[in-house]
This record gives sequence, structure tokens and C-alpha cells, in this order.
Amino acid sequence: MTEPKRITKAVFPVAGLGTRFLPATKSVPKEIMTLVDRPLIQYAIEEAREAGIEEFIFVTSRGKSALEDYFDESPILEASLKAKGKLDALEALKETNMPSGQIAYIRQHQARGLGHAVWCARRLISPDESFAVILPDDVISAETSCLKQMVDAHQEIGGSMVAAMEVPSKETSSYGILDVNEDMGSLVSVKGMVEKPAAEKAPSNLAVIGRYILTPEVLKNLEKTEEGSGGEIQLTDAIAREIVEGRGVYGYRFQGERFDCGSKAGFLQATVAFALERADLRDELRLFLHERMAMEQAAE
Ligand code: G1P
Repeated sequence: MTEPKRITKAVFPVAGLGTRFLPATKSVPKEIMTLVDRPLIQYAIEEAREAGIEEFIFVTSRGKSALEDYFDESPILEASLKAKGKLDALEALKETNMPSGQIAYIRQHQARGLGHAVWCARRLISPDESFAVILPDDVISAETSCLKQMVDAHQEIGGSMVAAMEVPSKETSSYGILDVNEDMGSLVSVKGMVEKPAAEKAPSNLAVIGRYILTPEVLKNLEKTEEGSGGEIQLTDAIAREIVEGRGVYGYRFQGERFDCGSKAGFLQATVAFALERADLRDELRLFLHERMAMEQAAE
């Protein structure tokens, strides 16, 4: 087998309405909501950069202009920070700048599902090029970024790959679920995939987490994919077609901790976990949590 080409493009589907976070998301895109002091999207970008991604494709929708502004240069703010000698803030700000030509925005005009959102980016991906997809709601804290772990594994094995994690059986209806062919440890080969099955119908409890490396064939499959679970065009169904056509699909059990920032509880957990890792916040937060827990226990 010839070595797969390096993955340099990533698609970020960010068109969702974020209804679970209303009213906050009435005017602020969900992806701009902050974990400690960075918006969700910044974590996704940094993960992608660590994995060698050079082109960032955002699939957006109406009301997401704050996201485009976020990645713009901000000369007035930069000049003001420089003049005041606030160099740390200036440095933090510069991390958010994206070089021109490395970032593209595509509109998804109708909310027709994740598969449809990825399909909207098809013209920016060459017919011979595999690409990554990152769902910014899934925030993964890891020593080596989750996507980098997957890119390295993909380099060895090729095909399409999804991040995978065991979930409790009662939660299978919230995820794409893998039907495992061969379990090789961190890597599993897959013989089927089902979007959001009820626990009694789930082929396993190994769930798809929002990181994908996809062959360009998946984009072609999306052309033919009909509405599936929830009446939406599902990425899971287009990847499953790869298996039917005899091409490899793998699940990758990544090293790291995943937070479901699409839910309020997950967002709060991520906020606490990330803050506890920060030298400038850890002590104060620990003390607060400690005292608070003691108060809660005393009141029980
Ligand atoms: C999407 C995918 C699902 C995957 C999940 C991971 O679902 O459709 O297969 O398991 O992301 O977070 P969503 O959470 O957007 O409903």
C-alpha cells in the first residue's frame, strides 16, 4: 500500500443553532462561548494545528458572523495593547489570527444535518484528498491532540477513521455507534455504523466522537445519502457506505478526556477541568470547590 497523503484540510461544521444554550446563543454563536478564556472554536483550531492542518474550512449559517470576526486581525486592539505594554494579552490575541488564504467559510443554507454540512464543503476538497472533520462541541483534553493521534494512525492504515469511545448503553441513542469487526486495541476495524440507535438495537457501546478522517469517496457517498436518523442527512450513513463498498473504516480509541460541550453539564465540567489545569486559577478554584462541597455536604 502506498502511504496515504498528509492530511492538511479540516472541515468545522459550525452551522448549528445551539438551541440547548438558549437564550445565550440568541446572539452569540455556540462556538464562541468561552471555556475559561478561550472560545470553544479556539480549542478545535489548536487541536487541528497540532495535527498539521493548514487549511480550515468552516461551514457556517446565518448569525455566525462573530465567528468570522474572531479569526480576523484586530489592528486597533493590537496597537492599543502594544502601546500599553500588555504583551501577554497581545500574544494571546495573535494566536487567533489566521493567515489569509488558510481559512474559508461556506454557508449551509438549510439545517439538513451533519452529513449535509460536510457535503457543503465538497468543492474545497480535491477528489484525491482525504480530509479531517472536527466537531467543536466535543472538546478533548489530551497530551497529544486527538486528531494528531488519528492522523498518525491513519498514516499507517489509510481508509476512513472516526474517533471512538465506550459510552454507557443507555447513551447509545445520542451517538453514531460502531459495529466492530476486529478489535485491535486502540484501533478497531468496523463492519457497520448506526446513527443514534436505541440501546436494544445498538451493535456495541463504542461511540463515534467528533473527530473524523474521511476519504473523498465519503463526499461522493453524501451525494446519494438520503435523510436518516432525525430526518437529517447523516455523516454516519455516508461513512457506513464505505464499508458496503469494501473500503476500510476504522474506529480509533484516543488517549484523552472528552467533554461534551454540546450539553450544559459537559460544558461546566470542561470549564472546571480546564481551569484546574491553569496555574493562575488552580489554587483559588480548588479552595472554592472545596469549601462549596463542604457547605453542600453540611446542608444535606
Ligand atoms: C454527531 C454525529 C454522531 C456522533 C456525535 C459525536 O451527533 O452525528 O454520530 O456520535 O456527533 O458528538 P450530534 O451530537 O451532532 O447530534
